[in-house]
Amino acid sequence: MKHGLLRFLCCPSCGADLSLREISADSGEVREGELSCRGCGRTYPVINFVPRFVGTDKYVRNFSFEWLFYRKTQLDSHNKLSDSLDTFKEKTGFSEAELKGRAVLDVGCGTGRFMEIAAGMGAAEVVGVDLSFAVETAVENTRRLPGANVVQADIFNLPFRRESFDLIYSIGVLHHTPSTREAFLKLPPLLAAGGAVSIWVYSDESRFEKIRNRITDFYRFFTCRMPVRLLWLLSHAAVPLYYVKRLGKFGAFMEMILPSSNSPRAEERVLDTFDWYSPRYQFKHTYAEVEGWFREAGLSARRLGFSVSVSGRKNG
Ligand SMILES: C[S@@+](CC[C@H](N)C(=O)[O-])C[C@H]1O[C@@H](n2cnc3c(N)ncnc32)[C@H](O)[C@@H]1O
Ligand SMILES: [Zn+2]
Repeated sequence: MKHGLLRFLCCPSCGADLSLREISADSGEVREGELSCRGCGRTYPVINFVPRFVGTDKYVRNFSFEWLFYRKTQLDSHNKLSDSLDTFKEKTGFSEAELKGRAVLDVGCGTGRFMEIAAGMGAAEVVGVDLSFAVETAVENTRRLPGANVVQADIFNLPFRRESFDLIYSIGVLHHTPSTREAFLKLPPLLAAGGAVSIWVYSDESRFEKIRNRITDFYRFFTCRMPVRLLWLLSHAAVPLYYVKRLGKFGAFMEMILPSSNSPRAEERVLDTFDWYSPRYQFKHTYAEVEGWFREAGLSARRLGFSVSVSGRKNG
C-alpha cells in the first residue's frame, strides 16, 4: 500500500477517516500494517501490501482460484500483445486525454491487467478493488506502477470516500454479484462532479445470445457446484473444441449447445471456458436495462460498441 492511497479510503462501516499504523515497509510502501477508524474504532489489516476490508472471498472462490493460477495469461506487458488495451478502449470508451493525470477506480480488478492499461494511458492514480484473492496477483502485477494500489473489499461495502474518483470502470464484474443493478448503483456516489463511469456486462441482446445463455445457465447450475479443480480439468475440452467449431453448420450448432472459448491461444481457451462455467452468479443484460440504471443514478448514458457496454457522466 502506497501512502497516497489513504486519501481515497474511509471506514466502510461508518464513513469516518482511517489512520494508518505501519508495521513493516518495503521500498517506501506499507507491507504489513493496520488501518483504524477514527469514528467507530474498527480496524482493518494491511497484509502483503493490500488493505483488507473483508475476511473471506465469499461467493468468488472460483475467481480466487482462476486469478491465482492464470497470473499473467492476459497481461499485455507479459504477452507483448495489445488484447487488454484493445478491450479496455472498446469497453470503457476512455481515451488518453481523459485518463491523463486522473484518479481512476477499477472495480473487480482481477489480475490488474486493466490497471496496467489505465496507468500506461496516463492515469495518475489507479486503485483496483476485488473481493477475491486475485488481489495477491494484482498487487504483484501492478505494485511497480507509480500511483497503483490494490484493495480487497466488496462492491456492496466499499471503503472509498464519496466523489473521490474522476473515472470508474468495471469490466466483466457486476453481473457476477447477487444483483448487477444494485452493484452498479454503489459506483456513482464515488464519482467526482463531471466524472465518468463505464461498465461492461454480459449481453442478452441477440436471439443467438438468449438461446446460448439459457443453455449455459442450465449447465452452470451444476458446474458452479463442482470442485474447482475438476471443472478446470473439464474446461480443457475447449482446446480441441476450437477446431470442431470451425466445421461449418455443425460447428455453429456445437457452439450453440456447448459454448466454450474460441480464443486463438489454447491457454486462454481453458481460462475463459472455466470463467464462463464457474461463477455462482452470472446475469446477462440488455442495453435498455443498463441505460435505465445510469438514468436512475442521474447520469447520462452512452452506448459503446461492444455489447453490452455503457458509459455515463455525472453533471459537472
Ligand atoms: C471475470 S473477473 C474480471 C476481472 C477483470 N475485470 C478482468 O476483466 O480481467 C470478475 C472479478 O469480479 C470480482 N468480483 C465479483 N464480485 C465482487 C464483489 N462483490 N466485489 C468485488 N469484486 C467482485 C471477482 O473476484 C473477479 O475477480
Ligand atoms: Zn468506522
